Amino acid sequence: MKRIAVYPGTFDPVTNGHLDLAERGRRHFDHLFMAVLANEGKEPLFSLEKRMALLRQAVAPWPDVTVDSFDGLLVDYARRVGAGVILRGIRAITDLEYEMQMAMMNRKLEPAIETVFLAPNQSYTFVSSRLVRQVARLGGSVSDLVPAVVAEALAHRFK
Ligand code: PNS
Repeated sequence: MKRIAVYPGTFDPVTNGHLDLAERGRRHFDHLFMAVLANEGKEPLFSLEKRMALLRQAVAPWPDVTVDSFDGLLVDYARRVGAGVILRGIRAITDLEYEMQMAMMNRKLEPAIETVFLAPNQSYTFVSSRLVRQVARLGGSVSDLVPAVVAEALAHRFK
């Protein structure tokens, strides 16, 4: 049996923290689906297509990682791709409440799917897509926090 996990997110944009977590996930699963939330309700900075393209470039060296999008319930998507695990990162205790709520709701909806939390490298505990967007918008450097393609896309966006 292949161990398949889904790592869902908005990835607006993907950060080195996300990539660190995916890299850790790869050690425990045979295949990882990085599933980008398609719902435009959050009014993302980058379109779904752009978020996926940036993510694809960032994970290009990893044959065991597929970039995909999903809409609707995450558990329905996970079922569709045959994933038994939802992978999420916990950077700090402040993430826990939101993550536990989602994990419990997902368990209620589909008890057979387990949420697994991993902690990123400590150097990424302060990195979030939201702060990366804000710093880039205000002209600060985010080059150590995101892949080069994302830094370029942000520079282009805010030039
Ligand atoms: O990167 P994010 O924005 O923290 O990711 C949030 C995400 C995509 C994991 C979450 O919004 C989600 O799973 N949305 C799908 C809707 C869903 O399944 N809701 C019910 C369970 S909480």
